[in-house]
Amino acid sequence: MKREYTVVLLLLASISVFGGSSVDSAFIDSLMSVMTLEEKIGQLNLPVGDDIESGTAKGADFEKLIINGQLGGFFNVSGVDKIKKLQQAAVEKGPHGIPLLVGADVIHGYRTIFPIPLGLASSWSPENIKRMARISAIEATADGINWNFSPMVDICRDPRWGRIAEGSGEDPYLGSQLAKAYVEGYQGDDLKSDSTLMACVKHFALYGAAEGGRDYNTVDMGKERLFNYYLPPYKAAVDAGCGSLMTSFNLINGQHSTAAGWLTQDLLRDNWNFGGLVVTDYNSMPEIATMGTSTIEDAAAKSMMAGTDMDMVSGLFVKYLKRSLTEGKVSMDMIDRACRRVLEVKQKLGLFDDPYKYCNSNRADKELFTKSHRAVARDIAAETFVLLKNENKLLPLNKKGKIALIGPLADVKNNMCGCWAMAGEHVTVLDGFRRAVGKRADILYAKGSNIYHNATVQMNGSGIKPIPYVEDEDGLLSEAMMVAEKSDVIVAVMGESSEMSGESASRADITIPDAQRELLKRLVKTGKPVVLVLFTGRPLVLDWESENIPAILNVWFPGSEAGDAIADVVFGNKNPEGKLTATFPRSVGQIPLYYNHLMPSHPDPDSKVFNRYCSNYIDCSNEPLYPFGYGMSYTEFKYGKPELSADAMERNGSIRLSVDVTNTGNMDGTEIVQLYLRDVVADIARPVKELKDFAKIYIPKGETRKVEFVITPDKLKYYDSELKYRYDPGEFEVMVGSDSKNLQTMKFIVK
Ligand code: BGC
Repeated sequence: MKREYTVVLLLLASISVFGGSSVDSAFIDSLMSVMTLEEKIGQLNLPVGDDIESGTAKGADFEKLIINGQLGGFFNVSGVDKIKKLQQAAVEKGPHGIPLLVGADVIHGYRTIFPIPLGLASSWSPENIKRMARISAIEATADGINWNFSPMVDICRDPRWGRIAEGSGEDPYLGSQLAKAYVEGYQGDDLKSDSTLMACVKHFALYGAAEGGRDYNTVDMGKERLFNYYLPPYKAAVDAGCGSLMTSFNLINGQHSTAAGWLTQDLLRDNWNFGGLVVTDYNSMPEIATMGTSTIEDAAAKSMMAGTDMDMVSGLFVKYLKRSLTEGKVSMDMIDRACRRVLEVKQKLGLFDDPYKYCNSNRADKELFTKSHRAVARDIAAETFVLLKNENKLLPLNKKGKIALIGPLADVKNNMCGCWAMAGEHVTVLDGFRRAVGKRADILYAKGSNIYHNATVQMNGSGIKPIPYVEDEDGLLSEAMMVAEKSDVIVAVMGESSEMSGESASRADITIPDAQRELLKRLVKTGKPVVLVLFTGRPLVLDWESENIPAILNVWFPGSEAGDAIADVVFGNKNPEGKLTATFPRSVGQIPLYYNHLMPSHPDPDSKVFNRYCSNYIDCSNEPLYPFGYGMSYTEFKYGKPELSADAMERNGSIRLSVDVTNTGNMDGTEIVQLYLRDVVADIARPVKELKDFAKIYIPKGETRKVEFVITPDKLKYYDSELKYRYDPGEFEVMVGSDSKNLQTMKFIVK
């Protein structure tokens, strides 16, 4: 099983570049020549501090570990002064004065918080991701951090998994473009600069494919699926020069990812030429034993054998590696190699030149949560919102009359940002609306309901950002109804609270929680127009809402500037332009539901009626509620007839598709034009369509823009049954349009 893919992998040529400056091997050789075995193993140890809650382990006594030479770095320590003291201890009291790596999870902003990654992805803009990552790097490095546990590039086809919020969605092509943008944004051109962070792509691999969408669960994966759909974003991050990589928590085909040599050593290092640092996920190493694939004593050796360099939290390298060396379970070469990689990244970050380069308190005072960073966060947030429905053009709202703002998420400062953002005072929807309308309209507010009726379930989903549970639910409701009755229009601000997605936040029922859905039904019964401003960290099942609510604006978790950004779009200062990057199902029973599926046996010719002996359900259509790529605008875009530059493509040639897109509505707007391909006959079945390109274009009202895509052989290639990367002669379909369902199809032949 181990080394399963080795033979074919060795056939696959690929080159990867390591970001940042080159390594001075002579310096590292000479340093290592004076280090003891224990000190080398000490460099491989990455314990956690306890300033930030991110797992179950207790913070370690860093000073003691530093003096004993048992520390390569740490994470989850907050504040530049504290970090500087530890760095000083390492340089002044630690053996050989080796500086420390300082890690953190800066997932969608540090102090200025941007939308959650799934939201960022919905803007289909590598530029936005780069800007976000750049600002995150400036702020985090100003506060002492030099290593970032981001981007998470796990493809996910199951919205029950809470961590779908942390990634870019279900598509490998878009996921790869965005993975690259994250890395480039964090690392810049020069890792040695004092405002760039070393990125860490995670979680290698397949964490997003956890069975049943249950966090930390098993993954079973065939090699064609692995190579064609799940691996591309990791590879894109590595090719972009990502300095480090994190293993994942899950089993893959019965083997723990942290002990899978075919994955880390053979594929990542030998085939993709990854020269950077590999760290385990939080306490993953002992779990190799918990999951039944090692004894606890051998877990460290197994992990190192597989290609891991650094142990996050568990301390097992320090505890067992020396003994494993004596027993011949690891070699001195392996320990040396891992130690060298840790020292190399420290050198690439410039820490040996100046250990305090990320510890400048003046910067921390000036560069965090600045006006200009917040302005960028507000602009980007508005681009991530997805308008799911807008009957009779209810949105945008006029700033006049009485506007009721109702719902448990309308005025909670600590719930605007979603997972992996420190609780803080962020702009609520109520603040944003009041500021936007000034004296021109009355904003009436009522909380209306709890998140859930059940206080325990509400608590389960609250994590570090609880919303107080109100016992008097009837009181909440009657206050909301009074406010609703007085108003001209109702804006319901509802959905998931901040910590209902992210790590350890899987849901079996992904509808809007009961208490809020009931409130929504009561609001609709008033007969007043209702707009739903939906907070969520995952695709939800909105079957009832899509039938009964005239306007739905999905805002994900927009970040620090949430309220202002939402007001910008609700009142029409900005036109929504986001499109979904993960399918919204009609029912949990359809999951996994994703647009780039294979053709089933007995395909269903018409999903509007039930067809016996077809691949379908007797009680639910196969269709998604809102497909991948979907999102409306306040204006309308009309597509012309696409044209191909030729009917046939020469081997190694290219072919162009062009299409006119006209803004036929009354407002300037931005459209995301999408290009999909289908290989009609191939060695292994290929998806019914696959995203292969997109263009985000601004079109003033009344104007037309020509969009052109170039189809090259790399867009046609796939890994075949022997994992050869190839493309075939024969027929291809090419589709262009505004989402994965709304497409015009043409054909061409590859010679
Ligand atoms: C998560 C990682 C994270 C790490 C450190 C783990 O629980 O899976 O994504 O980087 O903790 O906080």
